[in-house]
Amino acid sequence: MATARKPTNPTSANGHAANGGTTNGGLATDDAIQIDSHLGGPEHRTLAEDVLDGLTRPFKELPPKHFYDARGAELFDRICELPEYYPTRTERGILDATAAEIATLTGAVELVELGSGTAAKTRVLLDALHRAGTLERYVPVDVTESMVRDCADELTLEYPGLRVHGVIGDFERHLDRVPPADGPRLVVFLGGTIGNFPPGSRRRFLRQIADLLGPRDHLLMGTDLVKDAGVLKDAYDDQQGVTAEFNRNVLHVLNRELDADFDPGDFDHVALFDDRHEWVEMRLRARREHTVTVGALELDVHFDAGEEMRTEISAKFTRPRLESDLDAAGLQLVRWLTDPEDLFALTLSRPSA
Ligand code: SAH
Ligand code: TRP
Repeated sequence: MATARKPTNPTSANGHAANGGTTNGGLATDDAIQIDSHLGGPEHRTLAEDVLDGLTRPFKELPPKHFYDARGAELFDRICELPEYYPTRTERGILDATAAEIATLTGAVELVELGSGTAAKTRVLLDALHRAGTLERYVPVDVTESMVRDCADELTLEYPGLRVHGVIGDFERHLDRVPPADGPRLVVFLGGTIGNFPPGSRRRFLRQIADLLGPRDHLLMGTDLVKDAGVLKDAYDDQQGVTAEFNRNVLHVLNRELDADFDPGDFDHVALFDDRHEWVEMRLRARREHTVTVGALELDVHFDAGEEMRTEISAKFTRPRLESDLDAAGLQLVRWLTDPEDLFALTLSRPSA
């Protein structure tokens, strides 16, 4: 782990800040920002292990957290603006309508956000907590280093007095590195990202989140809801092909990070709604029979023509299923917040008494 105070010296190649804990000058922002990085060497091992595991399964699979390099993050931002991708604007609408109530209910002095990205929607909550006069600290947790750093810089400028303690890391492995809270805490997990976990890991992950919560703390989680299969499919297979490009981006990541020779043009983007599991599945389908070499793994991977590789699931929820998942993690529902069309839901929950 490396801890750096802003302003930082250039970061070294492994992603660790180069300047340990030095402070320069007396600017207010020096103390406003702290960034911890838990990535570096071991992260590469995780990518290699995940890929070796996934590509040698009978039904090939790649884990979704590797979508979000700088280009992937940019493509995801474009997905959020697409007319077909209703989740982002719907979730924002719910936040606009309920943030004041959430601020009152939680009285949170700190907001911890998992998979914070650009924190675009988070500002609605930060505004409400700021207005309520309780907000002291924001703790963004994300694997994408540039996003954590940029959003720390922006938010400390936008909210005078706010401290930002960024955690660059994998929320599946580094939740224990979230710094302890100094008062009521609100953990937020937006964008329906919880739906990217398969059901068993989802419950395990919810239990880990619950471990971050004391008796006065809350979790606010965004989940996409079950709906018409056509609407769902369009949201994950847009006209402009941005989602297809986002999906194929994972192949560019493997080429760069693991010395693989995927030709992304050899794969078609596939999105389908599995109505038995109630999840959308993203796949990449090989256009022709061919073999790919992953240099760093000394691995040859054969693809049949038409063979599909799973890249992500995005589970869609109903209220009863969500309540039972929360219950299994020791959490109880406090508020069920949805839009007028019941497209998307935010659940506010707290540790069960
Ligand atoms: N919260 C934002 C972004 C959602 S996209 C929104 O609602 O729009 C998912 C985000 O989670 C990305 O920023 C990605 O970098 C991050 N992410 C994905 N898997 C992660 C992991 N295992 N650990 C930490 N962050 C992760
Ligand atoms: N968490 C987002 C979701 O499940 C991520 C996402 C949106 C995504 N579109 C995608 C992931 C396309 C892979 C491919 O809605």
